[in-house]
Parts: sequence; C-alpha cells; structure tokens
Amino acid sequence: MIQCPRGTRDFLPDEMERRRFYESALREVARTFGFRETETPMFEEAELFVLRSGPNILNELYAFEDKGGRSLALRPEMTAPAVRMFVNGMSNDPKPIKIFYFGQCFRYERPQSGRYREFFQFGAEIIGSATPETDAEVIAAAAAMIKALGLKEYKLRIGHIGILRQRLADAGVPAERTAEVLQKLDKKLYDEARPILESVGVGDADIEGIIDVTETVGGPEVLSKIGGEAGAHIKNVLDVLAAMGVEGIEIDLGVVRGLDYYTGMVFEAEAPALGAEKQICGGGSYTLSELFGGEKVFTTGFAIGFDRILLAMEREGVPFARRGIDAYVLYASEDVRMKAFEIAGGLRSEGVSADVDMMGRKMAKSLRHASSIRARYAVIVGSKELENESVTLRDMSTGEQNLINICDLASAVKPKSDACGHRP
Ligand code: HAM
Repeated sequence: MIQCPRGTRDFLPDEMERRRFYESALREVARTFGFRETETPMFEEAELFVLRSGPNILNELYAFEDKGGRSLALRPEMTAPAVRMFVNGMSNDPKPIKIFYFGQCFRYERPQSGRYREFFQFGAEIIGSATPETDAEVIAAAAAMIKALGLKEYKLRIGHIGILRQRLADAGVPAERTAEVLQKLDKKLYDEARPILESVGVGDADIEGIIDVTETVGGPEVLSKIGGEAGAHIKNVLDVLAAMGVEGIEIDLGVVRGLDYYTGMVFEAEAPALGAEKQICGGGSYTLSELFGGEKVFTTGFAIGFDRILLAMEREGVPFARRGIDAYVLYASEDVRMKAFEIAGGLRSEGVSADVDMMGRKMAKSLRHASSIRARYAVIVGSKELENESVTLRDMSTGEQNLINICDLASAVKPKSDACGHRP
C-alpha cells in the first residue's frame, strides 16, 4: 500500500473541519490587527533561502533542480518569500505594511511528535518600521492569536539577539562563524559551542560571559542587568504591550532563534503540553530586503506553528464540537423520490447544509446513516404528508418527530449558533 511520504500527513474531514475552524479564528485576529493576507509560491529560487537563513535551515532544505536547470527549493518558512514579494511589488506602498500569510512549509527534519517535514505556519510581518511600538504590535498579535485559539498554558519569552551578536563580535568571533555559534547556543549545546569559540581564539572568561548572556532570564528586574540601547528597547516594548493589556512576558536573552536573519528583538512562545517540540511561535526583527535587491527596510514578524498549537490544544483537552450537516433528506417511498431531491435543492439554496439519500435505502438504514454523518435533523419525505405540503422533521439528538410545512423547513433546521462559536 502506498502511504503518504514520511513526515507528511493526510487530513481527513473531521480533522480538516477543526483545522479550518481554528484557521478562521487566526484570520479574524489578523484582521482585527489590520494585517492583510498575501500568498507566495510554495517553491522559490533556492538562493532566497541560502542567502541568510543560517545552517539550521540549509541542512533541512528540500532543494532540487527543475527541468530547465533552475535551482529551486520548497519554502522552509515564509519570511524570506514575503520580503522578496515586498521588494518585487510592494516597496512603494505606504509604510508600515502589515501582511499575514498561512500555508505549508517544508523542512527535511527527523519526524517526531509535533515535528513534520510538511507543516503549516500562520505568520505576519510589519514591513518598514523599526520602533518598539512595531515590535510590541507584532507580539500583541501573536499573543492575541494564541489566546483566541483557547490554548490554556503557554509562555511568551522576549530577548534581543543584538546583545549576543555584539558580545560575540567583541570577543573576536569572525562574522562568518557567528551563525554556527548561535545555532549551538540556540539549542543550548554549550559543549559544542565551546570548541568552536576556542578554535577562533575566544578565551575562557569571554566564553563564560557569552554563556552567561544566554542565561539571563527573569522579570522586569533583569532589565537593569541588560542596560544600554537593547535594554531600553525591550523596556519600551514591554511598556507598550502593558498598555495593550499584554502582560506576563518573560525576559530571556537565551532566545537565540534558529534562523540567522534576526538583528534585534526576538521572541518565542512555548506550550509545556508539547514536551520536546514545545515551541509554538517564534519571531523577531530583522532586515532581509537589501539581500534580495531592495533597499534596507526594517521588518518585524512572527510565525505560529499551526500544527503544533493544535496538537497542544488537543493534549490540553480544549473542546471542539464538530458541526456535521444540518439536514439529511430521505424518502419513504419510491413515488416521492424526486420530491426529496427538490426539497434538498431548496434547502441548499437557502444556505442549509443538506445531504440526500442517493442509494435508495430503507428508512431505518437511512436514519442510521444520517446519524453517522452527524446530521442534526432528518427530513423524511412521505406521500401522505406531501398532500399537505408537509414533511416529517426528526431531531436526530432527541428522536422527536414533528410535521412541518416545507416553507418553514429551512429556518427550522438552520443552526442558530453553538457553544464553539460556529455561526450559521
Ligand atoms: P521558526 O521558529 O523557524 O520561525 O518557525 C516558526 C514556528 O513553526 C515554530 O515556532 C514551530 O512552531 C513551527 N515549526 C517549525 N518547524 C516545524 C516542523 N518541522 N514541524 C512543525 N512545526 C514546525 C520562522 O519560520 C520564521 N519565519 C518566523 C518569523 C516570521 N520571523 C519573522 N517573521
């Protein structure tokens, strides 16, 4: 039997309904923050990702040559494509530009729970502004999205990669080795970072100092330890966030990020319910446009790992009520078969989700099928009732049956709204 490729998944209808519901919730938050949707191709010139994504991403790239000999890659993330799109077609738009995107990314990783080779990101970028207010707006949007999904337990941490970059430069780490060191520090692999630092001549005291930076963690009190421009920037971001009612963010200079392009504020969110792969969101400020042929433009953004956050919600038992369909139309005898199809057609044109018996099943079997597809109502079409322009409406959850005039059918079966916020 042919299976889907390792690290990829099929989404069956039940799962897809859940995914679409939460995707809409994220879109709605993006809308309330004034972000507008964009879409870029699923594959790009490989160079787009080679230029600045860093060793973590490069090792995981699905790169290939097409029949025309072009070097292409499936996108491992959507920030570089978004900035390329900005340089190509949006660079004259009024700044700041607020965009969001949702789609699949591809990384050749070792699959495990919460880590896939094809996964989905919901992300947003603010292009053309480098203020603390911009950073705060991005974090506030990410926090609002996580909250809107209903995840109960998560932690947001904010850092500033500029501090660590400066520290590495001051210690004499050459620019071309920085990404490699940061990659190790990102994963807290100090034993692997140490020999690299030693090999470029960094002394013990400086190495300890660098590790110390990555372990600077705490509340607002650690701001005094950070100082300088970066400290003032983080304080400003936190103040703006507090004004918007976003509190409880931890300061953590150990937020290094796996991608190489960040220059300033960086942040991550994690969900303890996930265990090892617990990062559900990551982002920060960076410049990439100058690498893609544009002017240097400051940008801040984030991406939520859609699959991971949904997995965390599942582990936490966040309830999701599946909607099923509104009505299943069946007919009691062959002579009214066409009438059943006419009624189903009428319901659909009124916006009701209606299915109809296509297999000529006996009543009991048809009702069983209606229940298995989670129809809220069964509409039983019988010749006697039709004489009075009526049908029998059966509430599938209670079994209660009533005669109803066909004109009133659509409004009777249309859902009002339910506990999960599903609307008609
Ligand atoms: P990232 O941290 O590499 O950042 O990915 C964002 C999120 O995608 C992660 O926090 C994680 O939840 C999810 N993710 C990453 N890899 C996988 C995987 N193999 N399977 C499942 N989920 C995964 C970025 O991609 C940046 N582009 C974010 C950004 C936007 N920075 C600025 N703007």
